[in-house]
Amino acid sequence: MAAQDVILVFDSGLGGLTVYREIIAARPAANFVYVADDAAFPYGAMDEAALVPHLVTLMGDLIATHHPELVVIACNTASTIALPDLRKAYTVPFVGTVPAIKPACASSVTRRVSVLGTEATIKREYTRALIDKFAGDCRVTLVGSKLLAGYAESELAGAPVDDEAVAAEIAPCFIDDGVRTDTVVLACTHYPLLLDRLRRLAPWPVNLLDPAPAIARRVSDLLGPPSPTQRGGTTRAVFTSGHPPTAALARFGIGTNTAVAPAR
Ligand code: DGL
Repeated sequence: MAAQDVILVFDSGLGGLTVYREIIAARPAANFVYVADDAAFPYGAMDEAALVPHLVTLMGDLIATHHPELVVIACNTASTIALPDLRKAYTVPFVGTVPAIKPACASSVTRRVSVLGTEATIKREYTRALIDKFAGDCRVTLVGSKLLAGYAESELAGAPVDDEAVAAEIAPCFIDDGVRTDTVVLACTHYPLLLDRLRRLAPWPVNLLDPAPAIARRVSDLLGPPSPTQRGGTTRAVFTSGHPPTAALARFGIGTNTAVAPAR
């Protein structure tokens, strides 16, 4: 990878930062553009038919502006519906984020796995197909949350919602039919932003599966070994609203001087 090459990490909001922090830990010398389509947040509430053309058009503008070497769609809601169209439209490699049902079902001891995502991700054909393919003898419970991604945004903005509200969103994940759920797939990149609270509010300890480390490994494999001459890269932040949340970005080491207004 040459010094000027850029990894573009994309989400509807701040959730993709949970993927970005793993990738930058693996590739500290790379240059990044973090793009949040916050003007359209939440994708979970957007009509499928509108979301796909919206993503294809926006990605075209972003690719033309930033010339990424690789694009990471750090959003399950977008990846589970738009990856084929994005790959058809553009030659740049895309790494998607999809529910980690395969590793969850491979490692569950009690054979009770829950998948917690946006209502849209939970309804997707793509998610059902992963269950058909990889659940085996696991009983998989799908839990669509309307509010949790927004709660994660509030938490990062310094206005956390109360415990009861978070507990109500995660409660359906915990099945006890004589045998208890032992694994919850975090199928929305926003949810690891709430990881400490999810652990604390879980009625019993479970494995909360965050796919970000696996995505970072995949990105590193695709890029190949880093050049020994490449030194510390930069990260720019692009928010389609034109209002980058500087305090939240600073928590991920993204400086305000590099946070810029929309691509379009
Ligand atoms: N971060 C997104 C995901 O992984 C979802 C948030 C939204 O609804 O826009 O699904």
